[in-house]
Formats: sequence, C-alpha cells, structure tokens
Amino acid sequence: MSLATRRVPRTSMHGWGASGGLLFKVLPLNLPYPVRTGVPERINMKILVTGGAGYIGSHTVLELLNAGHEVVVMDNLSNSSETSLQRVAELAGRAPEFHNVDLLDLAGMKELFVSTQPDAVIHFAGLKAVGESAEKPLWYYQTNVAGTLNLIYAMEEANCRSIVFSSSATVYGEPESMPLVEKLNMDAQSCYGRTKEHIEDMLVDLAASDDRWNIALLRYFNPVGAHESGRIGEDPSGIPNNLVPFIAQVAVGRREHLNVFGNDYPTVDGTGVRDYIHVVDLADGHLKAVDYITEHGGLHTWNLGTGNGYSVLEVLHAFEKACGKELPYKIVARRPGDVAVSYADPSSALADLGWSASRDIDTMVRDHWNWQKNNPNGYEEQ
Ligand code: NAD
Ligand code: UD1
Repeated sequence: MSLATRRVPRTSMHGWGASGGLLFKVLPLNLPYPVRTGVPERINMKILVTGGAGYIGSHTVLELLNAGHEVVVMDNLSNSSETSLQRVAELAGRAPEFHNVDLLDLAGMKELFVSTQPDAVIHFAGLKAVGESAEKPLWYYQTNVAGTLNLIYAMEEANCRSIVFSSSATVYGEPESMPLVEKLNMDAQSCYGRTKEHIEDMLVDLAASDDRWNIALLRYFNPVGAHESGRIGEDPSGIPNNLVPFIAQVAVGRREHLNVFGNDYPTVDGTGVRDYIHVVDLADGHLKAVDYITEHGGLHTWNLGTGNGYSVLEVLHAFEKACGKELPYKIVARRPGDVAVSYADPSSALADLGWSASRDIDTMVRDHWNWQKNNPNGYEEQ
C-alpha cells in the first residue's frame, strides 16, 4: 500500500503542548499577532483539507484550528513544503495531522478516509497555472478532474458527503456584465478554467442525483496577502504569474522591474482591474461555507471577493507605500487571455453565510510585504 502517513512531529513544535486548559490560552509572548496554545474549548468537526500545505490551504488550516476544528491535511507537496504546516502549528498551538498522499492514488485516498473518518472535506489540491495548463492539458484534466473524481469515490465509500470546492472567478470568462454574479453562464477561456468548470458540473450532477451530498462551490477572485504574523504566505515556484507575488519579488530585489500588461484598457488608468481579496478573509469564507452546508445541505455557489476593483498601477502604488520605496515598472503588450475588468458581486455570500471581506487593499499588500521581506526565498532556507 502506497499510503504514507506521518504526523507533523509534535516534538518539532517547541513548546506547544497537547495538554492545556479548557480554553485556548494566549502565550505570554509579546507578539503582535495571535498565537495560541493548549486545546480548544470544543472540537467542532474533523475536516480533511486537501492541498492544505499550499498557499490558501495553509491559511485555512490555521483558521480551522483556531476555530476548534480537528484538521487532517493531505498533500503530495508537489507545490508546497511541510514547513508551512510546521509554522501553522506554531501559530495555532497544535498541529494538523499530515498525510502525504496523491489525489491520483485512489487506493491511498480510500485508505486515508478509512483511517481518518473526516466529517467534511475542503478541497484545494490541484494545479493552477494558466499557461502551463495550455502546454500540458492532459496533466491538468487528470490531476484536477480525475483527482477530484477519486476524492469523491473515496468520500462516498466512507460516507463523508460534505465538500467545499476551490473554484475560481476564471470560470466566468469574458464577462457578460459587471459585477460578476453567480447565475452568469460559465465560459472559461483557458484549459485550467475549463477543469474548474468540469468539476463544478460534476458536483452539480452529483448533488442532483443524491440529496445526501452537501456541496459548496467557492469562486475565488484574486487571493493575495498573508497571515499578519508573516510566518506563512504565498511561495510561488519559478517566475510568479500573478501580479502581487511578482511585485513582492521586485520589492525584495529578486526581479528588476514589473511588466505591466497593457495600459490601453477602458479603465481608470488603462491597466487591468481586479478584485483582490486577503487570503485570511478567503480562509474565513471556507469556515462559514463548511458550517453552512453541513447545517443546511444542498449545493451552493458563492463568489468570494470584496466587490471592489483595483488597477495594476493602483496595486503597485499601494505596495510602494507598504514597502517605502519606488518600484520600477515598464508598460508592455497586453497578456493574451486577460480581461479588462473583473470584480465580484459578493452579496450572496453575505446573505447566506454572513460573510464579507474585511481587509482592505493596504492591509493586503502590507501583509504580503511583511511575509516577503521576512522570507525573501519563501520557505526555502535563507
Ligand atoms: P497551491 O499550489 O499553493 O496549493 C495547492 C496544493 O495542492 C499544493 O500544496 C500542492 O502540493 C497540492 N497538490 C497539487 N497536486 C496534488 C495532487 N495530485 N495530490 C495531492 N496534492 C496535490 O495553490 P493555492 O493558490 O493555494 O490554490 C488552492 C486552490 O485554489 C487550487 O485548486 C486553485 O486552483 C484554487 N484557486 C487559486 C487561486 C489563486 O489565485 N491562488 C484563485 C482561484 C482558485
Ligand atoms: C490569473 C489567471 C486566472 C486565475 C487568477 C488568480 C490568467 C490569464 N488568468 O488571473 O485564471 O484564476 O490569476 O490566480 O493568467 N499583471 C501585470 N503584470 C504581471 C502580472 C499581472 O500587469 O506580471 C496584470 C494582469 O494583466 C491583470 C492583473 O495584473 O490585469 C492581475 O493579474 P493576475 O494576478 O495574473 O490575475 P488574473 O489576470 O485575474
């Protein structure tokens, strides 16, 4: 059996006892961010987080632990490092259980469910690079679509039928109208986006066939930022594709300048406008969604965005303010496949979940910069 299970060793988590009082206790350290120890007041649910060592996953695991859930992480570490989970454990005061399993290993997935018996799943694991998806479409369909199918089979066999899925605003494609509302047709313009569409369709069909399934399809806008501690954050491998990680690497001296992809869009300053959302707000949306579906059942689709759009130059200038220096940029040609403007109507998530994003663009770039300057090479040794 290829299932390799191992816990993040508690011994490596210096000072974080499994014992403790009835409530979380804040450690007597003078830190500007919350660090907890001990055990939570109550364990709410046992939640399996696929891709939990990655960028959004690690922030969500931290919020789940802080909210008193028991967390099992499965990840093959193909785009992440176990260090993120060790740091999550430091911040939470207790560790998630970690299993190195590949989504494509059906036997391993089934065994994982038998051995851990989760109540619900938050499914982040997958591939996400738009350009790469055009070059390796079968790998993307296999990992994202067939991988999710494996997960569903394993869940079904273990009688676990609650899942929150990481979809993307990219499924809207060339928007018919703005802001983007969930009822718009999907029309993804990339192979990556189409894998998200296929998975959404698959889950819609599943929910229609069997009302024991509880499903949330979360369409994220543009996740940025990091936990306020600066201990966990986004650690892209190679040249970042996305705007804020690229700017952060310019700020820290790893890249010479930012290429701004086009300044002739019909926007405030000609550069593309997006709905950036702080990753901790996004993580919080997952907690609300998993609570909602386990209580109410059914299938639900929610946008997770702020409802505000910022241009490339506005984001660049906000970052300059955060890092206290001017950042060089050059205007270059538009990037193929980009839309001029994309922002969410997040009112369904507010109405159903009571969720809205609370962190503004200055907080997003401040926290992103704090992570980048403290970890110039990401999770790699300095
Ligand atoms: P990430 O790459 O940091 O995290 C994904 C995790 O999945 C990684 O830890 C990786 O090691 C793991 N993984 C990949 N293939 C796997 C496999 N076959 N088996 C097991 N684990 C595997 O990405 P992220 O930014 O945290 O994104 C998480 C999810 O959110 C993805 O599904 C992504 O498509 C979606 N999403 C991300 C964004 C974004 O801008 N970051 C936007 C919209 C949607
Ligand atoms: C990209 C992906 C999308 C994915 C989303 C979030 C493409 C075509 N789309 O969308 O599928 O869901 O990320 O992960 O890749 N920009 C620059 N210079 C850069 C990088 C970006 O000017 O070096 C501009 C872009 O043209 C865009 C804005 O910054 O106007 C944001 O870009 P990015 O962070 O890549 O996000 P999206 O384009 O929204």
